Amino acid sequence: EYFKERGHRIIPSSSLIPKDDPTLLFTTAGMVQFKPMFAGTVRLDYTRAATVQKCFRTSDLERVGKTKRHCTFFEMLGNFSFGDYFKKEAIEYAWEYSTKVVGFPVEDVWVSIFENDDEAFDIWKGHIGVPERKIVRLGREDNFWGPAGDSGACGPCSELYLDRGPAFGCGSPDCRPGCDCERFLEFWNLVFNQFYQDETGKQTPLPRTGIDTGMGLERLACIFQGVNSLFEVDTVRKILDHICRIAGIQYKDNEKKDISIRVITDHIRATTFLICDGVLPSNEGRGYVLRRLLRRAARHGKLLGCNRPFLYEVADTVIANYGEAYPNLVEKRDLIKRVIRLEEERFIETIDAGLEILGNLINKHRAEGALPGEDVFRLYDTFGFPLDLTREIL
Ligand code: GLY
Repeated sequence: EYFKERGHRIIPSSSLIPKDDPTLLFTTAGMVQFKPMFAGTVRLDYTRAATVQKCFRTSDLERVGKTKRHCTFFEMLGNFSFGDYFKKEAIEYAWEYSTKVVGFPVEDVWVSIFENDDEAFDIWKGHIGVPERKIVRLGREDNFWGPAGDSGACGPCSELYLDRGPAFGCGSPDCRPGCDCERFLEFWNLVFNQFYQDETGKQTPLPRTGIDTGMGLERLACIFQGVNSLFEVDTVRKILDHICRIAGIQYKDNEKKDISIRVITDHIRATTFLICDGVLPSNEGRGYVLRRLLRRAARHGKLLGCNRPFLYEVADTVIANYGEAYPNLVEKRDLIKRVIRLEEERFIETIDAGLEILGNLINKHRAEGALPGEDVFRLYDTFGFPLDLTREIL
């Protein structure tokens, strides 16, 4: 509503599979569906847009489950300008929305800017009135965003952080946005698209500058709902609870089990959406990513004592949660559940076959006290037997 009132066209979320973009496997940000508009190769009858975009990223895959904030699937809120407004208005909107609409106390909001972006500094300090000590200059790794994929628009960015107070912090006198601890929670990224980066990494100024912003819906929900974990957000928690019911266990009883519960929660949410958008398990590309997630989830289910297919049942809770916002999920319920169930059954067969091969290998190499890496690799690569399972059995 806020952005609609300010001339933005509300555009539906695009698919998790980017359209006509061979450089990108998945939709990783709200700006992906607008890449041609930012690059200037396509013009539309609007120059301002706002979206709630479903996103999928595997960059943090290894950390999913181990922490309470990493995930592969999430929804990103964003406002966009294609050659329309630039830094000043983007910063004004973000500030007003955060402090007046969401209602974060002014004194708790901090910002970061790209190290040499004096223009952004002047807007934050001179125009908005944020004290200098709360404007942190960070380097390229933190405050330069894009492109999404091998080529596309990119530029310096400015992020908004909520100071959750010293109780969440590391206690260091240097603790500020950019610190690894939990005190300053980044909630919104404003990207000032100024350059086009080609496949070789060369950047040239864009003919028209643009604005691309991203705010994590789940992160915002954590703050609103007063919870310190993405997995405690009401919608996500329902999925987690369903898994616990099936496994007959309680969340927060045992840290090792909690990791498995969180992995399954994240992966079933992601895979339900991926299948809905047309990805099917296979041994390459998107299908391989999907297969890996489903097998990882099934593997963690096994660790919780679920030795029969169960993920397909949890998909019902994902659909119940998100079906209103994404009606496709309801329409494709049967397909989604069938694909998941089939993959679970195949995985169980793989495990059974792999256990036999591994048993023979162990007997053969018992005297050496170790398996050759080659055999371990073949088990994984040819027979699809998970490496962590091999390690555990050994
Ligand atoms: N495209 C902005 C972001 O992903 O943070």
